[in-house]
Amino acid sequence: MLRGFIMVVYANRYEEIKRLGHGVTGNVYLANDIKSGQKCAMKFLKRPHRGDRLSPLMSFKREFETLKGLNHPNIAKVLDSGYDKNFGEYYIVTEFVQGEDLFTATENGTIQDSEDLLVQTLRALNYLHSKKIYHLDLKPPNILVVRGSDNTLTIKIIDFGYANFFESADYKARAKEDPDNVNILGTPAYTSPEVIKGETPDGRSDIYSLGCVFYTVLTRGVPFTSEVDDPHEVHWKHLHKSPPPPIAINQNIPPYLNDIIITMMAKEADRRPLSCEAIIKEMNLFKTTPYEIETKETRMSYLPERGALIGREVDLKRFRDLYFKRIKLEDYSFTPFLIVTGGSGSGKSRFLSECINYVRGEFCTNILSWKEFNPTFRTLKRAISSEVVIVYQ
Ligand SMILES: Nc1ncnc2c1ncn2[C@@H]1O[C@H](COP(=O)(O)OP(=O)(O)O)[C@@H](O)[C@H]1O
Ligand SMILES: [Mg+2]
Repeated sequence: MLRGFIMVVYANRYEEIKRLGHGVTGNVYLANDIKSGQKCAMKFLKRPHRGDRLSPLMSFKREFETLKGLNHPNIAKVLDSGYDKNFGEYYIVTEFVQGEDLFTATENGTIQDSEDLLVQTLRALNYLHSKKIYHLDLKPPNILVVRGSDNTLTIKIIDFGYANFFESADYKARAKEDPDNVNILGTPAYTSPEVIKGETPDGRSDIYSLGCVFYTVLTRGVPFTSEVDDPHEVHWKHLHKSPPPPIAINQNIPPYLNDIIITMMAKEADRRPLSCEAIIKEMNLFKTTPYEIETKETRMSYLPERGALIGREVDLKRFRDLYFKRIKLEDYSFTPFLIVTGGSGSGKSRFLSECINYVRGEFCTNILSWKEFNPTFRTLKRAISSEVVIVYQ
């Protein structure tokens, strides 16, 4: 992309094509990955403002941490992350989802199409919840829909900026400090009562939000509104009011689907379906062709992507100890080195990529500065492409 005749390239690798969105954390760009030739989405972290309630860096790192271990056909895959030293900003790169947001994508579709998309979202949430990850910001703009050449629709969930935020010490400290103001996260139209009350949410909070999302998809209007656009009024309604049943607004909605949406939106988490799987099973009671709880593709997601690194725990620990001593304890009295040798196929690269993952994780989670992170990272990267002997640092 030429911006004022200047090609913008991030991290020496990603050419900006255009801006996709501007949100809470920062800008999201469509970029061309020079290395792979693939299009990708790059999300940057806006510089923090004084007085921000939630440390943006914390939220950003949490998003990266959450995403990096996920591998599911209905969740946008994270590809890379790092810090662009020229621009002085952190970034996360994910697969580019060429699609529309859920609300737009369902505008002219059938109820059956929407129901299929609901089931796909439920499978993705089932996977997330099995890993004890709660998205906590489900809304149509965070659920993208890709239309295939054969007109099939595929869901991709994005934006894990709030995922498991409530688990964090940061949130708990704030909740203690300022209990009336911990409920500002999320989007009022889709926020669950327990989140509004500042209680610890779980998978059932996502079920509530998803109920609201599909209420909106099927009726073309959000369940609770405020004429004066007051988020507190919307929150109050989530706590105390029942919206008109979806079927009262759109008579074409089958009664079982109407009932499922209403139970998903129960005020008390205990009265909602126990799990996303239970919702699909409930739907199947009314279907002549039942939905698969897991498809061939989604079932694969539960298998580890790569086998665990077995038999190298001691080596990995040695690497971590050296790294920790040098970087964290700032002990520069010694020059640590690690020689990695072995015949072809002995697992040198695999071991080194595990070291890289570790360093990258530390960089993105423990606020390692670029200066601390970069030399180790570069050494390891160089080592991985060389053949025989690798000297660390
Ligand atoms: N992987 C992606 N593919 C396509 N568009 C994306 C992708 N990630 C984000 N976007 C676009 O950018 C917008 C903002 O990104 P998001 O991750 O939701 O950030 P925020 O936390 O600011 O809401 C999204 O609503 C979507 O339109
Ligand atoms: Mg978003």
